[in-house]
Amino acid sequence: MSVQPIRLFGDPVLITKADPVVDFDAELRRLVADLTDTMQAAPGSGLAAPQIGVGLRVFTYFVEGELGHLVNPELSLSTEDQFGPEGCLSIPGLTFDCRRALNVIAKGFNMYGEPVVIEGSDLLARCIQHETDHLDGVLFVDRLDTETRKAAMRAIREAEWFGAPPPLKVSPHPTNGFGL
Ligand code: NI
Repeated sequence: MSVQPIRLFGDPVLITKADPVVDFDAELRRLVADLTDTMQAAPGSGLAAPQIGVGLRVFTYFVEGELGHLVNPELSLSTEDQFGPEGCLSIPGLTFDCRRALNVIAKGFNMYGEPVVIEGSDLLARCIQHETDHLDGVLFVDRLDTETRKAAMRAIREAEWFGAPPPLKVSPHPTNGFGL
């Protein structure tokens, strides 16, 4: 279980469709643990596997105190919608108003391969749609209306993190000033 680096806008993994999970094994459980740890450290309300460089259909969420995960999600969306601010850990520091379905029913599996159904409204529904989009290589900026998307792309190009090289890997062991 460990916190992983979060991939940022511009990384090809974020625009690549993820593969369905076939093996519900120890590796999948480690992936769910890594996603959970990385999401909570950020902190964030949701995180999808491609955001830590893993092309599998898995995401975690932490919304209104409810922590969960879903594997191979299939969504049914309400026709009633919501419009409000949305952000993404892969597009740090920026939020834009985004239209989403108000309610969602998500069918899928837990990390043990047992079928689960998650019903969400408002923020949880927004989160589930956002994370499932990640599994299809879709980012929330792609869901914005034309004018807002232009503003978002401009803000991304001007962001400090955009196009910067990934941070150097830092040793997790403290060296007490004696690092050589
Ligand atoms: Ni995101």
